[in-house]
Amino acid sequence: MSEDVTRTSLCRDDILLSGKVALITGGGAGIGRGIAIGFAEFGADVAILDADADAASTVADLVRAKGRKALAILADVTNRAAVRGAVAQIIRELGRLDILVNNAGGTRPLPLLDMVDKQLDKRIDLNLTSLFVTTQAAAKAMVMAGQGGAIINIASIEGLRAAPYHAVYAACKAGMVNFTRTAALELGGHGIRVNCIAPDVVFTEAMARNSPFARAPEFKKAHARYFPLGRAGNFDDCAGAAVFLASPMASYITGTTINVDGGTFAASGWTRDKDDHWRLFTRNPEA
Ligand SMILES: NC(=O)c1ccc[n+]([C@@H]2O[C@H](COP(=O)([O-])OP(=O)(O)OC[C@H]3O[C@@H](n4cnc5c(N)ncnc54)[C@H](O)[C@@H]3O)[C@@H](O)[C@H]2O)c1
Repeated sequence: MSEDVTRTSLCRDDILLSGKVALITGGGAGIGRGIAIGFAEFGADVAILDADADAASTVADLVRAKGRKALAILADVTNRAAVRGAVAQIIRELGRLDILVNNAGGTRPLPLLDMVDKQLDKRIDLNLTSLFVTTQAAAKAMVMAGQGGAIINIASIEGLRAAPYHAVYAACKAGMVNFTRTAALELGGHGIRVNCIAPDVVFTEAMARNSPFARAPEFKKAHARYFPLGRAGNFDDCAGAAVFLASPMASYITGTTINVDGGTFAASGWTRDKDDHWRLFTRNPEA
């Protein structure tokens, strides 16, 4: 029997990111901020790239408070030169780059029929073009260092299902899911793993600012019916999946997508009624 078959050497330290350096785009707020803090907790040094300088430096301070090195980089992921410069700066100042989280992204609702070219281009630049550019820049640095790496793309459950009024965003996230598979194949020989996380709703600071109703008690009740696990997602749900995918614990996982959605993709239209029974649809919307 080969040694590989009999290997039983998993140890608790395999979840640690000690000695690793991570770059998180859009790490100044929301899910990216949660991942930055989670990575620091598990031992990584973290570079936070964000278009908001104050947000990036606040998160860098939180990383340092956990005893890790941090670098706040003011850059827009849609600026190709700035992204390439950021990767070079990380190698210069933190000495290496092992983990990339392509997190910066987002959208606003807009019916397909109303969209103008500028809005289309902006969405694609932020949610798809930046993914290619940042991944290429980071992967080149990882290949040159010859120590492998982990790339984690923050997609969305909207990349796996329809998303009315978010057509371009959803198409970009679907593109991200499939880019992940191709990149996993092209980079696997260099020991670089590429995976996706697909969250459903995760409440962020921005949502609390823009939609205060989203925290109202009636919304919480609606969530209990919509999410099989009974609640919307939070930063730690995403950070936990990201730490796992970045760590040696996931050393044989590449080209895949983990849904961090409380089960909504599995539900695909099934919701609980007021009596807690699952239904595919209801004739009485008040039920
Ligand atoms: N929050 C959710 O419910 C949810 C659900 C599914 C997927 N996602 C995805 O997760 C990722 C993070 O979303 P979030 O809700 O945490 O975002 P957020 O709006 O809370 O934070 C985004 C951060 O990215 C920064 N940023 C935005 N545009 C940038 C740019 N061009 N260059 C550099 N930095 C930029 C912002 O300054 C901010 O700090 C996105 O890709 C989003 O599509 C979010």
